[in-house]
Amino acid sequence: MEKLLANQFALVTGASSGIGYGVAKALADAGASVALNYHSHAESAEKLADEINQSGGAAIAVKADVSNPADIDAMFEACRARFGTLDIVVANSGLQKDSAFAEMTLDDWQTVLATNLTGQFLTAQAAVKEFRRRGPTSVSKALGKIICMSSVHEVIPWAGHVNYAASKGGIQMFMKSLAQEVAPERIRVNSIAPGAIRTQINRDAWDTSAARDKLLELIPYGRVGEVEDIGKAAVWLASDESDYVVGTTLFVDGGMTLYPGFVDNG
Ligand code: BGC
Repeated sequence: MEKLLANQFALVTGASSGIGYGVAKALADAGASVALNYHSHAESAEKLADEINQSGGAAIAVKADVSNPADIDAMFEACRARFGTLDIVVANSGLQKDSAFAEMTLDDWQTVLATNLTGQFLTAQAAVKEFRRRGPTSVSKALGKIICMSSVHEVIPWAGHVNYAASKGGIQMFMKSLAQEVAPERIRVNSIAPGAIRTQINRDAWDTSAARDKLLELIPYGRVGEVEDIGKAAVWLASDESDYVVGTTLFVDGGMTLYPGFVDNG
C-alpha cells in the first residue's frame, strides 16, 4: 500500500530532539523525504538523517537559527537544492526560559519570543513563498501544508512562564490569521498543541515518581504523552486525510485542557 506522504517533501524545524525529532521520524515513516533542521545539535539530526537514508528514505540535516532571516533563506535553498521543493513545513522550533515574572530578564523574554514566535513567522513566510513559486502538484490536493507547533499554553495560563505562554498565545492568532489569508490558495495552515510530552524540555515534571504523580493530576487520560503521539497527529495533518481541516488547533494532550481540577470541585 502506498504510504500516506509518499513523494512529498517536508521540513521540520527543531528536529534534533524532542517533539521535532519524533515528528520528523513519523513523516519519514509515512513516506516523506525530510529536511531535519537543527540549531546546535548536529550529531542527533545527522544520525536521524543517516537512519532514514539507510532505511530507504531520503533525509538531510540543515543547520539554521530560525529567528535569523538569512539562515531561513539558506535553509530553504538547501531544501530546494536537495529536493526541488517542499510540500510540508512543520514550524516546530521552541524553547523555554522560565523564571518568576519580576526576575525575568529582557533577554529571557526576547529569546523565547524570537524562536517560538518570530521563528514560526519566518519559517511560515518562506514556506508560503516556496509553495507559490512551485505551483500545484499531483502529490497533494493542497498547494502546501504548514503545521505550527503550539502548546496547551496557547490557552492555559502558566505562572512562571509568561514569555513561553505569550509566545504560544501568539501562535494561536498567528496561525489562524495566516490560515484565513492563504486558504483561498489551498495552503492549509494548522497547529498541534501538545500537552505534557516526555522530552528533555520538561524532564523535571516527569523524571521522579513524585513529580510524575503531580503531573498526572493534570492529565485525565492518565499517562504522560510520547513524541510518537505528536508524530501521528502531524502525519494526519500533513496528509490529504485532513484536506478539509483549515486553521484548527489540534490538542494532543490527554485531556489536559479539560480543566481536570474541576472533576470534584467548583
Ligand atoms: C511545555 C512543557 C509542559 C507542557 C504542559 C509544553 O508546551 O513545553 O514544559 O510540560 O507544555 O504544561
